[in-house]
Amino acid sequence: MKRVALLGATGSIGKQAREIVEAHPELELVAAASGSQDIEGVAPLTQVGGDLTELLEKSKPDVVLNAVVGFAGLPATLWTLEQGVDLALANKESLVAGGDLALAAWKEGGGRILPVDSEHSAVFQLLEGKESTSVDSLVLTASGGPFRGRSRAELNSISPLEALAHPTWNMGPKITVDSATLMNKGLELIEAHFLFELPYDRIEVVVHQTSIVHALVRFRDGASLAHLGYPDMRVPISYALTYPERAATPIAPLDLASGLILEFSAPDEDAFPCLALARAAGEAGRTVPCVLNAANEIAVASFLDGRLPFLGIPEVVERTLNAVDAVTASDLDDLLAVDAEARRIASALTRELVH
Ligand SMILES: NC(=O)c1ccc[n+]([C@@H]2O[C@H](COP(=O)([O-])OP(=O)(O)OC[C@H]3O[C@@H](n4cnc5c(N)ncnc54)[C@H](OP(=O)(O)O)[C@@H]3O)[C@@H](O)[C@H]2O)c1
Repeated sequence: MKRVALLGATGSIGKQAREIVEAHPELELVAAASGSQDIEGVAPLTQVGGDLTELLEKSKPDVVLNAVVGFAGLPATLWTLEQGVDLALANKESLVAGGDLALAAWKEGGGRILPVDSEHSAVFQLLEGKESTSVDSLVLTASGGPFRGRSRAELNSISPLEALAHPTWNMGPKITVDSATLMNKGLELIEAHFLFELPYDRIEVVVHQTSIVHALVRFRDGASLAHLGYPDMRVPISYALTYPERAATPIAPLDLASGLILEFSAPDEDAFPCLALARAAGEAGRTVPCVLNAANEIAVASFLDGRLPFLGIPEVVERTLNAVDAVTASDLDDLLAVDAEARRIASALTRELVH
């Protein structure tokens, strides 16, 4: 039996994870947490909000699936890595904001990170059994979101409803907006940098509208391996929870004869500046990615409330990045302070742009 603690149990990933756990008798849901929704009865131990590490301490899990959205997932990521417990990681924001601390805790704790983000799960699988010296570069694919092909001028009047209509993935609201701005791919770029310990100039992002190829790895001998599958998060969730067994899922095998469209193109960084902002923040390092993440969370929440225009999101992020000095965070408290400062500035900038 594998004892699973599920954080973010009421969300898009959380619900699919519950389905996977129910289908596999060798997985036991010992603890579940949400932010505000009632989850009594979902697992023997439950917690709504608060310090999720308390629930983790009590439940003694073999694997923690962190499917909380946003910076709120960071303490649980750090706790899990420090304890050397396996971390099935959907909460990319924790690695973006706290990558250096997470990496140190991971090395110290000696556990595994099993990525749940489909692109990172794909890279993880492609790299299994390969020498790191044989790897040339990684390629993460992006669907391009619902506004792929539009110019910057065409993006200003986008409503939250339009941004929430993702063409290939059905996800929670924050990541759906992040996909529409391409910030999601920017966050994933930073996530990949920390997970696979490669410099940014060896991680490429390409647009691939149908989301069939999740990622590729180029090797030094000129070969590239790709990971293909229909866009269905139950596949990477199941892979992470049942690793290394690769248990069966109810997902249909890829039907090549029905005609798959496998086209790739460069992202339009003029219309979607969030990707370049994230790359620059990642390259700058220290607490810059933490500031990027905090500003983005504030801007996306304001956009979803119908206040900030769509193009206000990159503007708030860029201006917040310019306003907050980078420091080196030596512990979680340092990051909490930087996150709070960035949120304060991003909120003020958001109010300025709304009025
Ligand atoms: N959805 C996908 O297909 C997908 C794919 C790849 C990666 N991810 C990543 O997975 C994470 C979750 O995404 P999602 O789409 O599942 O989001 P979601 O549907 O919005 O669900 C978020 C979950 O987090 C919980 N939560 C929010 N704030 C919390 C807090 N302060 N403390 C504890 N729990 C809190 C929510 O609880 P309440 O319901 O009570 O608010 C909910 O259970 C994100 O980091 C996202 O980037 C998602």
